[in-house]
Amino acid sequence: MSPKKPKFGIMFDIDGVLLRGKTPIPGAAEALKALMNEDETEYEVPAVFCTNGFGLREVKAATLSDKLGVKVNPDQIVMSQTPLEMFHEFHDKWCLVSGPEHDGGSKKVAESLGFTKIITIEDLREAYPYLDWVDRTRWPNQQMEDDDSFPTIEAIVMLGEPIRWETNLQLIIDVLVTQGKPNQPPCIEGPQLPVLAVNMDLQWMAKANIPRFGHGAFLVCLENLYKKICGRDLEYTALIGKPSEITYEYSQKLIEEIATGLNMPELDTVYAIGDNPLTDIYGANMFNLFLDKKRREIEKNESALRNAATGVGKYTAITQHAKVGIQTQ
Ligand code: G3P
Ligand code: MG
Repeated sequence: MSPKKPKFGIMFDIDGVLLRGKTPIPGAAEALKALMNEDETEYEVPAVFCTNGFGLREVKAATLSDKLGVKVNPDQIVMSQTPLEMFHEFHDKWCLVSGPEHDGGSKKVAESLGFTKIITIEDLREAYPYLDWVDRTRWPNQQMEDDDSFPTIEAIVMLGEPIRWETNLQLIIDVLVTQGKPNQPPCIEGPQLPVLAVNMDLQWMAKANIPRFGHGAFLVCLENLYKKICGRDLEYTALIGKPSEITYEYSQKLIEEIATGLNMPELDTVYAIGDNPLTDIYGANMFNLFLDKKRREIEKNESALRNAATGVGKYTAITQHAKVGIQTQ
């Protein structure tokens, strides 16, 4: 270890900063190695990798380690949905889970977060075979009945952009307007089920030269459909992922835990490095304002101040162009 320990941590975005698709961005591996000890076995600077992407933390860690040739541990990863593991009140409710199909699909990822009563879009299609109607190749080829014993859905959890947008949009709206019972007539004035969603990115940088639709684009479609049909705004119980406060708070705690494990002094700065101004830069700056407000509140009470010795001093947002600066630290 270096004689003088650093007092900062780093929160890396992944897509557009370290990888484009599965291709490493030049300089990314070197930047990470510069944060490690000489034999590149351990980080000397606490680093977390916070992505709005979907999937299992261990799979993302393995992908980063493989593609960049640098050791990344699952407990350094914050996926867009990771903070949902704190939403215990929904873990034993019947949740309709919408999302991508890689990394074992949305069911496996929801299970990894603690959800126990998971209903996938596929489960719903099977229970109510005439709801999904756009793609004629998926029409039932024989007369089917609704499954009247199917559980009433109590919440909707959206983990990322699905593959068949029209199917998911239709079935989520069906569940919303029937208060979780799509075999019942719609009641658009009825109460809205809790909706939890992660990853608000309208667009993101994948392998193409121009940005791709993200889960935020799917949510825009859903919100507009809901408003047109019900005449009121769709309300979210929680919107998670960058730029949400909860994701930055979660990442900060993780960085602090890693710093404690490294016997580091209290951190005074966390550098948040991202490529998306509306997500990474906005989120880090908003979180800085939140921390400032929290600090001011603490300062009002001297005894609280004495007890609140933890917490980073400052969040600094850096665009991808500034990433090079980090490599030299
Ligand atoms: O789906 C992934 C995307 O929205 C952004 O990922 O790593 O740039 O936060 P990232
Ligand atoms: Mg990015």
